[in-house]
Amino acid sequence: MSTAEPTSTTTTLDRPTLRLRGVNKSFGAVQVLHDVNLDVYPGKVTALVGDNGAGKSTLIKSIAGIHPMDSGTVEFEGEPVQLSGPRDAARLGIEVVYQDLALADNLDVVQNMFLGRERKRGVVLDEASMEEAARDTLTKLSVRTLKSVRQLVSSLSGGQRQTVAIAKAVLWESKLVILDEPTAALGVAQTRQVLDLVRRLADTGHAVVFITHNMVDVFEVADRVAALYLGRVAADVPISDVDRTQVIELITSGRSGDVGLAAEDLED
Ligand SMILES: Nc1ncnc2c1ncn2[C@@H]1O[C@H](COP(=O)(O)OP(=O)(O)OP(=O)(O)O)[C@@H](O)[C@H]1O
Ligand SMILES: [Mg+2]
Repeated sequence: MSTAEPTSTTTTLDRPTLRLRGVNKSFGAVQVLHDVNLDVYPGKVTALVGDNGAGKSTLIKSIAGIHPMDSGTVEFEGEPVQLSGPRDAARLGIEVVYQDLALADNLDVVQNMFLGRERKRGVVLDEASMEEAARDTLTKLSVRTLKSVRQLVSSLSGGQRQTVAIAKAVLWESKLVILDEPTAALGVAQTRQVLDLVRRLADTGHAVVFITHNMVDVFEVADRVAALYLGRVAADVPISDVDRTQVIELITSGRSGDVGLAAEDLED
């Protein structure tokens, strides 16, 4: 072993897919993100936690280029990049599944997965190739709960809709998939399905950011946890470094034992 060259897999896994340093974001006079540093790794699920209003959605919308950052630096796969708009993010392979999902009820699963990026043969839609790609993606993610990819989205359960939204994000050779509270509205069995899917996303090499308020979900599926407190990163650590009580303390007070924000950051 000791004589072997380090494998590219090892080096790739050690390098964050996304690295943020010193990110600030204000809306008017209100500063929402303060000096945010975050590392998101391929093959790993990072749970992004924090109280209501902590800045989680703002942070992911900054990463998606929807609310461009005011200052700070971004590296993607080791290269400095600008995220000035949604196209920049999409080009890099960053896909976000938002809280409200934005699926079209009156369209079927395939149509939703290709919405706005339809494949064509000449002037007509290439239905066969889109259907095949949609089915392939769902199979790769071991999604077995959908009866047909030609089902209307209006006929799907909440968990199945999440599944379609996540599969849609994966269809585009995405490298970083960000999920804003994918289990918030789901029952026990559907939450289970979505957590399994989140795990498979990471197992297929994606870097995954998973926003949740649910500590059970965090400890079920996350490899790392990043806690935001009033727009500051209180911790960005492997899940094995913290227990449930500590994560809750980080969320509610920005600090737990020797993990968390320094006293001067907690005062203002
Ligand atoms: N477009 C905006 N304009 C002005 N203020 C905003 C805007 N979006 C968010 N904010 C403010 O930024 C702060 C962080 O909001 P954000 O939605 O990022 O929180 P969150 O952590 O996602 O909360 P939740 O858990 O409730 O979803 C809040 O005080 C919010 O009012
Ligand atoms: Mg939010």
